Amino acid sequence: MDKILRVNNLTTSFITKSGEVQAVRGVSFDVGKGEILGVVGESGSGKSVISLSILGVLEENARIKDGTVEFAGTNLIGLSKKEYRKIRGSKISMIFQDPMTSLNPVMKVGKQISETLLEHNPNMGPQEAKERAIELLRKVHIPEAPSRYHSYPHQLSGGMRQRVMIAIAISCEPELIIADEPTTALDVTIQDQIIKLLKEMNAKQNLSVMFITHDLGVVAGICDRVLVLYGGLIMEEGKLNEIFYKTAHPYTLGLLESVPRLDQEKTQRLMPIGGSPPDMLKPPKGCPFYPRCRWGRQLCVEERPVFSNLSDTHRSACWLLLPDAPSEDNPFYGRQLW
Ligand SMILES: Nc1ncnc2c1ncn2[C@@H]1O[C@H](COP(=O)(O)OP(=O)(O)O)[C@@H](O)[C@H]1O
Ligand SMILES: [Mg+2]
Repeated sequence: MDKILRVNNLTTSFITKSGEVQAVRGVSFDVGKGEILGVVGESGSGKSVISLSILGVLEENARIKDGTVEFAGTNLIGLSKKEYRKIRGSKISMIFQDPMTSLNPVMKVGKQISETLLEHNPNMGPQEAKERAIELLRKVHIPEAPSRYHSYPHQLSGGMRQRVMIAIAISCEPELIIADEPTTALDVTIQDQIIKLLKEMNAKQNLSVMFITHDLGVVAGICDRVLVLYGGLIMEEGKLNEIFYKTAHPYTLGLLESVPRLDQEKTQRLMPIGGSPPDMLKPPKGCPFYPRCRWGRQLCVEERPVFSNLSDTHRSACWLLLPDAPSEDNPFYGRQLW
């Protein structure tokens, strides 16, 4: 599969009064053309910092210390603000958790779409932009699109506002959409509709999507492949089925136990992972998940685990997967993961 995005060794920190917050510590992955990649991890794992690093919209105190972000063959790291603006919103679009913060509260939603169109298409006239905006409202299944054109954001429900954001995001026919927790603020039914809509756009326009969520349950409904992130590092990466059925990391196992699953009995108890995420001002030397891991041992404290490749598409950074790892107290021993 051709790649639209290649992220290599991305390392992003924040300079704060208390010291350096090492938010993302050398992360490498890619997104295929037309693929939906899920990025999953608890709050604070570095998901948003990865997306903001790709988009070139990090806060002032952020430093990209190392790595490259290749989009359609060009490294974006180090581009000028002007060059970045040309890419953002036209070739790469973004959707955030709260549409209210990205929509202008005092401008009609239709106008906000047509303004975006005009900004990116210098030859388009205002009438054509309006027609295209209404067409886009229809495309994201907003009922009565011509009259909704004249609504203000506060007159729409949360789900409808997120649809408007998607209309804006796809208005310039981007190649990649980065959606950062786009359904987190919505109730479950609406969440489902928004996911269906993103999948529809992905299928119809061969659009690539990076779908960021803290909820492993949500990725099952939308993603082809999943990255599991913790403490600014990739813990496990694989196709959806590999992550769910050949789970090869204690952290992913923990996430799975804390989401409801349709294939298991309703009576199954949901177990949140005990403990809390590491302090990124002083990230642990070894595996960041060690303090919360049921199976951690001395080596995990001392050295950061290397990746074991379980298939061409599946890798996991856990010492318990090494061929010479002890069999005793090893959840992966004897399991057919390879
Ligand atoms: N502007 C900032 N200054 C200092 N630390 C930050 C800043 N933004 C994010 N962080 C820290 O970076 C880490 C990763 O954050 P983030 O990517 O937002 O997590 P999430 O996975 O929840 O999206 C967290 O420890 C967070 O506190
Ligand atoms: Mg976030």
